[in-house]
Amino acid sequence: MPGKIIAVGNLKGGTGKSTVAVNVACALANGGKARVALVDADGQGTAGDWGAKGRLPVAVTALPFEEAGAGWRDRVDGLAASHDFVVLDLPPQLGDAILNALHAASLFVVPVTASGADLKATAKAIDLLARVRAERGDRRPGCLLVPSRVDRRTAAGKEIEAVLHEFGEPVAPAIGQRTAHVDAFTVGEWVGSYAPRSVAHEEIEVLAAIVRRVK
Ligand SMILES: Nc1ncnc2c1ncn2[C@@H]1O[C@H](COP(=O)(O)OP(=O)(O)OP(=O)(O)O)[C@@H](O)[C@H]1O
Ligand SMILES: [Mg+2]
Repeated sequence: MPGKIIAVGNLKGGTGKSTVAVNVACALANGGKARVALVDADGQGTAGDWGAKGRLPVAVTALPFEEAGAGWRDRVDGLAASHDFVVLDLPPQLGDAILNALHAASLFVVPVTASGADLKATAKAIDLLARVRAERGDRRPGCLLVPSRVDRRTAAGKEIEAVLHEFGEPVAPAIGQRTAHVDAFTVGEWVGSYAPRSVAHEEIEVLAAIVRRVK
């Protein structure tokens, strides 16, 4: 059985896609018990830069669609053949990367912040998901909307779950806006090694546990 391919994306910049992709990939590795490949499919190279210091427990493969082209899907499927999970960190634009990723994935993880601009982009991402599900004909990929960078002091931050439920897809427990995420990136670690048992780490573990269970 090939490993599970998890696409992390949204059609807007800065929603926390790379932060979720890197940290969930590292949590899924579960101290080496699972084989996890993290694919940086974004030409910006955020996940690649994160891993470049050699302090992540998972290997990062730089695979921007614009460079890999027609071979992209084969490379991803190849990684899935030798790993339990392949986590794809996607670019924020509508394009071949996200389309091919949704065709390959069993789960689409969509970080969304509480801003109106994010919600608009998320609606477009959900439309794209519906299109791919129709093309695949197997109701895949599944979807998990992740409230991201949530600040509960703001009105929007208090309401984000209720707003996300209107998309009709499962909503994960929130990932809060926490400095540990920013600082962990700065030193090239994931939050589970940078700030073990912090709230930031616990939130990632809760999300990873849900991702792990999805068929
Ligand atoms: N939960 C969080 N708490 C605090 N800061 C966060 C959190 N998630 C992301 N950030 C910060 O927000 C910025 C954008 O995050 P990230 O790079 O993960 O977003 P992205 O959606 O991948 O962006 P892009 O669209 O550019 O790829 C970074 O500086 C990151 O450290
Ligand atoms: Mg990113």
